[in-house]
Amino acid sequence: MPAGRLPLVIAFFAAALIGGLAAVAWLVPTQRPAAPGPMAQNAAIGGPFTLVDVNGRTVTDADFRGRYMLIYFGYAYCPDVCPMSLARNAAALDLLGEKADRIQPILITVDPERDTPQVLEGYVEAFHPRLIALTGTPEQIAAAAKAYRVYYAKAQSDGAAEDYLVDHSSFTYLMGPDGKFLQFFRHEISAEQMAERLKSAL
Ligand code: NI
Repeated sequence: MPAGRLPLVIAFFAAALIGGLAAVAWLVPTQRPAAPGPMAQNAAIGGPFTLVDVNGRTVTDADFRGRYMLIYFGYAYCPDVCPMSLARNAAALDLLGEKADRIQPILITVDPERDTPQVLEGYVEAFHPRLIALTGTPEQIAAAAKAYRVYYAKAQSDGAAEDYLVDHSSFTYLMGPDGKFLQFFRHEISAEQMAERLKSAL
């Protein structure tokens, strides 16, 4: 190649390299902005709630003081995400062995209209013998979800009015024996990963 074209060739490859690096930096997931979630203000997650258990009794957050709470918001008619999260949470507790006795797993419904105490009682048994399900009035559920920064909304449905899905965030929250937020777990992590993190948190 003529010597005069060498700088041009070098400039071309330098530009290609810089462009490539920029593309990689943009594509690496950790460098992308995180989806909206509880990450932003951990200190503000959680708070008082007043709900109803499967026996129709009023239950508040204060009833769980002295125990860790492992809280998931979901609903019994959820086709996939909720069953997977609840099964994962149960498996993580099983992996912890006796240590899990200090943790109270709790499901708070985001579908209080269909998730009556009776519906929830049958639903949670399938996942873990100690899993507690809580429902309440739409206002009570809205207040609890707001405290935990949980998003939920009825999705459009083509079928019957009672045949609908509920979009909702799928984080599981670990709250300390004092009721304060400790950490959250994404839907994507495994039971093993969750058990490891729970072990170090207790
Ligand atoms: Ni769900």
